[in-house]
Amino acid sequence: MHVKPKNLKTRPARWQTVPEMLLLTTLLAGGCGSDSPNANPPSEQPVGQPVTDSDASPGPADESPVISPSVTGTTALGPLPSPPLSAPPSNDDEPTVQDTRLHTSTAMPILEDAATLPAPPPPIGISEAEFSAGPLAPVVLAPPGVDLDENQPPYFENLDNITVLAGQLLELNLAPIDPDGGVADQYVATFLPRSRSVDNDDATKTIFWTPFEADVGIRDFTIFALDAENPELRVAYTIRIKVEMPSDPSTIENTPPTINHIDPYTVRVGDPVVLEITATDPNDTVPTIEISNLPPAATLLPHRDIPSVHVLRFVPEVAGQIALEVIARDALEPTLRAEDIFIIDVEAPARFTHEGGRLRELADARDFLIGFAASPNYYHRADGALYADTAAAEFNLVTAENSLKWDYVNPYPGDYRWADPDNLVAWAKANDLALHGHTLVWYAQLPPWVLDTPVASREGHMREHIDRVLSRYRDDIKLWDVVNEAIDEDGSYRPSVWYEAMGPDYVDIAFRQARASAPDATLIYNEYDTEVKGPKADALFALIDDLQANGTPLDGIGFQMHLFTDFVAFDDLAANMAEVASRDLDIYVTELDVSLRDSDDLAEQVAIYEGVLSVCLLQPRCKALQTWGFTDRHSWRRQFDPLILGRDYQPKPAYLAIQRRLGEN
Ligand code: XIL
Repeated sequence: MHVKPKNLKTRPARWQTVPEMLLLTTLLAGGCGSDSPNANPPSEQPVGQPVTDSDASPGPADESPVISPSVTGTTALGPLPSPPLSAPPSNDDEPTVQDTRLHTSTAMPILEDAATLPAPPPPIGISEAEFSAGPLAPVVLAPPGVDLDENQPPYFENLDNITVLAGQLLELNLAPIDPDGGVADQYVATFLPRSRSVDNDDATKTIFWTPFEADVGIRDFTIFALDAENPELRVAYTIRIKVEMPSDPSTIENTPPTINHIDPYTVRVGDPVVLEITATDPNDTVPTIEISNLPPAATLLPHRDIPSVHVLRFVPEVAGQIALEVIARDALEPTLRAEDIFIIDVEAPARFTHEGGRLRELADARDFLIGFAASPNYYHRADGALYADTAAAEFNLVTAENSLKWDYVNPYPGDYRWADPDNLVAWAKANDLALHGHTLVWYAQLPPWVLDTPVASREGHMREHIDRVLSRYRDDIKLWDVVNEAIDEDGSYRPSVWYEAMGPDYVDIAFRQARASAPDATLIYNEYDTEVKGPKADALFALIDDLQANGTPLDGIGFQMHLFTDFVAFDDLAANMAEVASRDLDIYVTELDVSLRDSDDLAEQVAIYEGVLSVCLLQPRCKALQTWGFTDRHSWRRQFDPLILGRDYQPKPAYLAIQRRLGEN
């Protein structure tokens, strides 16, 4: 083990303070297009802490009851940064698959296709130069009112970047210290694969980790030190761990492979089923994959670009359940193996026709928009054909659930991933759906490099981002969530990298830039928990008044509405929508889903979908209702079955209620 400790000062020299939520979103959620379910509804998520570094913040996050301070007014924007602050999109970006199907499953690249699709660019990671620069500056997360001179933040002693050899055991001792005395606590925010953590009896912890060949490279490792007196005062330390190959690779133990489990899928007889099967080996060898009961005429071939992936393709010809028996074997020692079973339910196409008219026909007839959020990477899904056909039949509006968020579309400076949103746009045009862009400016799902930008250049980065995304899509996407979730639960501004840099003016600047970059687009502000009366809704109205008095180009308001079955506030919703309408703005229900705490709540779920739709239809300015996904199989909260079609794509009672309600006056 090569641990190279550097003499750290007992207390780090430069502190960097950021709102906690930002850091947690980046470190823990990982963002990047994941559609993994998040069990926390927004109202239960931890809220950000005000920025404590007064030098950095021109707009103090004070405790005013309604939105304050007010926009100071930016009547005209200056030119965009020149030269650009980050490298612009270029032709080296991820190749765009020009495919008018929503799912590109039949275009999934396998080795045989080598000539037909351009190879993706190599991933960008942490460079040697960044590793040599040492650990990142510690980040202090301080709750409001804590005086950092009175209560000094805790720290870790002797933490530095580490170099370790594959196959060797790394022992990392973590000893937090509170300079004011007492026992500081800690938690580890980065999981090292197969590592073990041992609590020693003296408030220290030791992480034992043996990296393998697959871990070679440089990674971040983040741990928090918690203050002894006030555990909400915490400091994040990020060091870099470099894993290198030993001179004699035979010293590394050979371990069995693992298979990534796949949940059941429903498909139709005759659908082209494409299933990506991933098996990895910590030794970085490529396991073989077999299916012992391969369906008739199926092919199982290696993925063109990703060695650990095999692509199964077949067209089921009869209805019934298929239980695929998957076996992965170690490349060098075939007796080292892993097994799993993947279920595919094959249904007759007639099972997916139903009476009463598709939602989009009913919505078209009353000049209403009924929409859904589409999650990325359809080509990773066996049910892509059923998903795409169902979506095209039922909806006349679509928004990207993740793939237009900053961390997805521009994960590293100069690295743009347009393929998924391009594909969604092409599919929507081919199937005559309108598009809704989500989202340009948000505190979450930002890539780490954006969090790291200096305060003084953030306005420039924000404007550059808005301009680049809108320049690509302004002809096709005419409705945009420009700013998402700027208001905190108590009605104050939510701390964010944007608020920290520009104060409340960031909202105004974002809208002005959006108008400049896409003059014809409808620009909306999108928020959650504003369907009920209270400080947050009051702050929304105050924000609208403030922006309108300032001449900000704002066209509408989005009500997200991630609800549970206890929602009863239909009168509040109607009143709040009326408040928005009275300010001459359009209204969109942007992210409706109704999570079940218990599967018996289906009737309550019906009542909520129907009730929300009714309020919207009775409000002339309410233009659209979008559900956040449509099948429970692909919901961000799929453990709560919150959507209108089941995991098997069958209409739930909530679907039938929407269908009925759309058909009434
Ligand atoms: C969610 C997506 O559905 C998840 O897949 C992702 O992991 C996290 O973000 N409010 C928003 C949406 O504005 O962008 C969020 O979408 C849900 C809450």
